[in-house]
Formats: sequence, structure tokens, C-alpha cells
Amino acid sequence: MPKKSPSSNAHIEKPPVRILGVETSCDETAAAVVEDGRLILSSVVASQIDLHAQFGGVFPEVASRQHIKTIYPVIDEALHQAHLSFTDLDAVAVTRGPGLPGSLVVGMNAAKGLALARGLPILGVSHLEGHLYSAWLYKPETNPPHEPKFPIVALIVSGGHTELVLMNGHLQYQHLGATLDDAAGEAFDKVARLLGLEYPGGPSIQTASVEGNPLAYNFPRAWLEDSFDFSFSGLKTAVMREIRQIDTSVKPLPVADLAASFQAAVVDVLVTKTIKAVKQYSAKNMVVAGGVSANRALRHSLQVRATCPLHIPPIWLCTDNAAMIAGAAYFRFVQGQRDQLDMDVLPNWPLSEVPAPTSI
Ligand code: KG4
Ligand code: ZN
Repeated sequence: MPKKSPSSNAHIEKPPVRILGVETSCDETAAAVVEDGRLILSSVVASQIDLHAQFGGVFPEVASRQHIKTIYPVIDEALHQAHLSFTDLDAVAVTRGPGLPGSLVVGMNAAKGLALARGLPILGVSHLEGHLYSAWLYKPETNPPHEPKFPIVALIVSGGHTELVLMNGHLQYQHLGATLDDAAGEAFDKVARLLGLEYPGGPSIQTASVEGNPLAYNFPRAWLEDSFDFSFSGLKTAVMREIRQIDTSVKPLPVADLAASFQAAVVDVLVTKTIKAVKQYSAKNMVVAGGVSANRALRHSLQVRATCPLHIPPIWLCTDNAAMIAGAAYFRFVQGQRDQLDMDVLPNWPLSEVPAPTSI
């Protein structure tokens, strides 16, 4: 797809901004090209799930080695699928953090090399911000989604994070609450292991729950009074205690009921707190993103209980990808952000400390 040449009405119609996104924060090697922060021209994700399943979780050393092997073929494929070359791009965006240090460094170095060799600006993007901006993305064959309107209450639920923020404008985050212990996805992964289910635990628990009764066990919900913080470690311990009480030599572990009851408890807390925040901050819209937002029970409950328009990415965009990084980078690019080639990765980078472009 050639870059649009300036036409006689160029003063009215701005040429599109095309950004190559690179994401290697955990166990997916991903690259994508996104136009104007919304239209996905390509999105390639090389998953390492099969490699890590034997360890029951992500093995950091294995992850970074695998990123090194796949990063350049994945970037080439993203450009190929978008029918673009480097000269058609306006910038390279890369996940700066949070994530596994050894994994982040691979994407960062690849992006720096490309920026230097091709004379492109480079932008470092927060992985969590990327998840939120996946709510603005769409594919050419689908209609553009209605864009979320500010103020937005946004819930990020992933393997490493569970955070509720208020957005009064693009790239502005007011922290409302976060998990005090396990992230929601981490709880899914740990409970799946207790139940003998495969990694990653979220999809396994979702599948096992289909045949289960969500009311079979009344697992605890940590409401933490008026706070917007979350806690899932007590719930995990309650599931463990229940499992220990069951004599599996007499009857098999009721995996489906345990999975469904656990999932119901997580969903109840996530949805109740998000809706409460919407009310308290008079939010116009809510955005829910991150790997756990792929969960069907969570999506269903949000749709049923939402008190304002809900924006939740399609399931394939919920888990890690690079389109979300290229998408978020656009909003930074148009506000003037350009980073230096000596920028470093930030493995522990809270969303509340991600600066707006003017302060960079
Ligand atoms: O956003 P993500 O791909 O990576 C991180 O940034 O952490 O999220 C991965 C997490 C894992 O914990 C995985 O078990 C969970 O998202 N997950 C799900 C589902 N799909 C992925 N949790 C519940 N239900 C799902 N369908
Ligand atoms: Zn993620």
C-alpha cells in the first residue's frame, strides 16, 4: 500500500500516520502496523505458550531467547501483511515496560536498531496504556467502533496487573485502585494449577467452567470496604482449602464446579468495583482491557450490569499484541512525543507514572 501522495486538497486532508509497533514484554513476540491509532493494517503475534506450558508458567530466560529468534521475522511479516516498506512509516513504537526485563530489552533493541537504520522517530510506550488503547482499534473489514468518551473509568486486567483508572482525556491517568496482591490473571493461572488445568489458566478455567455450577461454592469476595483496590490471594487460598478437604480417593475433584465458582467470585468483584467507580466519578464510558477481558463470563456480566456504554476490545485483541502499542503511540506521536535512542526499559512502570507527552 503506497503512502498517499500530497494532493491538491492536502491542506484539508492530512496524510495518515503509520506506526510500526513492537511488543515483547512477556511471552508473545509481536509486531503490527496501525494507521492513525485506530486502523490495524497488520498484526502478527508469535506465541510462546507451547514452549512455556511444560513449566506451568513463563520461564523468563526461555522467553527472551525465543524473542531474539523471532523478532525480525515477525517485524518483516507485519510489514509484508500491511503491504508497506520502512519508507511508508512515520515512527517505530516499542513497549518500554512493565514486563520481564530480558524480554523487554529484545524488543527495545530491535526497535532502536530500526529507528537508527531507517531514520525513524522512536517512541517508548507503556504496555498498560497499550491495553487501554486497544479499545480504539479496528480491522479494515470491520466498522470503526464508537470511540470511548471522556471521562472514562478503565479497568486493566492482565496476568501481571489489575488496575482501575480514571481518564479525563487522552493519556491522562488518575489511579483509583489496584490489586494489593495477585493480579486477576495471576489468580486464574494459580487456581488453574491447583485444579490440575493447563497453562495459561484463564482460558482453561473458562473452558472447565462451562460444565460447572457457579453457585456450588460460595467463595469469598474481598470488597475492602469503600476502596477501589482488589485482593485475590484470599480467594485463591479458599479454593486451595476446599480442594484439600475433598478426598479424591472417594470421589473425583469437582473441577468444573470449583472453576465456575472461582470465576464467578473474580467476575463479581471486578464488575461491582468498576460500576461503582463509574457512578462515583460520573464517567461517560467504561473501558475494560487486558488478557482477562477475554473472559466470556466477565464480558457477559459487564454487558448485563454496565450503567454506561462499555468498550471492550474483541477477544483476539485482549491478550498481548503490538497493534495496541502502535495504537497508543499515535496519540503520543501527535502530541509531540519523540524519545531518545538511549532510553532504557522500565520493567516496573506504573501507569500513574507514565508522563503525558508535554512533560517528556
Ligand atoms: O494481557 P496478557 O496477555 O498478558 C499480560 O500483560 O499479563 O494477559 C495474560 C493473562 C493470563 O493470566 C491469562 O490466564 C489471562 O490473561 N487470560 C484469561 C483469559 N484469557 C487470558 N483469563 C480469564 N479468561 C480468559 N479467557
Ligand atoms: Zn498484557
